[in-house]
Amino acid sequence: MTQKIALVTGAAQGIGYACAKALADDGFRVVLSDVNAEGVAKAAETLGGTAVAIACDMSDGDQITALFDQIETEVGPVHTLVNNAGIALPGRFLDYSPDDFRKVLDVNVVGVFLATQRAARTMVDKGLKGAIINMSSINAVVAIPTIPAYCASKGGVNQLTKSASLALAPHGIRVNAVGPGSIDTEMMAGVNADPQAMKIAMSRTPLQRLGSATEIANTVAFLASDKASYITGETIYVDGGRLGQNYTC
Ligand SMILES: NC(=O)c1ccc[n+]([C@@H]2O[C@H](COP(=O)([O-])OP(=O)(O)OC[C@H]3O[C@@H](n4cnc5c(N)ncnc54)[C@H](O)[C@@H]3O)[C@@H](O)[C@H]2O)c1
Repeated sequence: MTQKIALVTGAAQGIGYACAKALADDGFRVVLSDVNAEGVAKAAETLGGTAVAIACDMSDGDQITALFDQIETEVGPVHTLVNNAGIALPGRFLDYSPDDFRKVLDVNVVGVFLATQRAARTMVDKGLKGAIINMSSINAVVAIPTIPAYCASKGGVNQLTKSASLALAPHGIRVNAVGPGSIDTEMMAGVNADPQAMKIAMSRTPLQRLGSATEIANTVAFLASDKASYITGETIYVDGGRLGQNYTC
């Protein structure tokens, strides 16, 4: 049997790197991609085995096309795509710049759409019953005032996940999303280092701790596996119980 190929975007660090590791542990040949060329090369080296790194800015459609062309020529067709790359760009709502808003949507939604479409075209051509997993967030459904573009983008990811799942189901391709809560990565470094911010975050986290990148990656690996063979169009929230609560005192 030939090794299935998985592509993880935003894989130089954090959740993306953990996803690459989990999929490699499950037997995939992994391609790690990131806008940070040096960082992703180091990450692939650390992962070892058959992992390879290819730099790509997920906000750039031409680079996304070139990424898939290169993978298909040098490695093979992508069976599992993890659309993980994402940015937040915080700012005060009343001053939030249209440029920042567009930047966030370009990476977090347009990039996810273009990569999904490009990956799915080859899956359909080759009759590959692949899996696509998008990194959403609890902010798809609960909001924070200082990251308006991020909240809008993750809401978009959830609906894009559903739309793509319907379009690709006739081809046996599954499309799902994972919605992390507060996870201990660089993206959360500001909150983690600020005791007051952590106190607020923990007051909204029934399991009373941050999640780890590996806990998100384990859910991605499940959705990529045959154990999830009848799941498509879903977002699974991995959030320590946050979305279930509605304390008023
Ligand atoms: N950390 C959390 O608490 C949390 C919570 C909910 C959702 N998420 C989501 O998980 C994903 C990963 O987050 P993380 O915490 O690991 O973040 P991170 O900032 O640690 O890592 C993000 C990675 O994406 C890369 N990246 C940024 N812009 C890119 C672009 N244009 N093209 C390609 N790569 C790019 C960065 O270089 C970095 O390696 C994101 O989609 C994020 O929105 C994270």
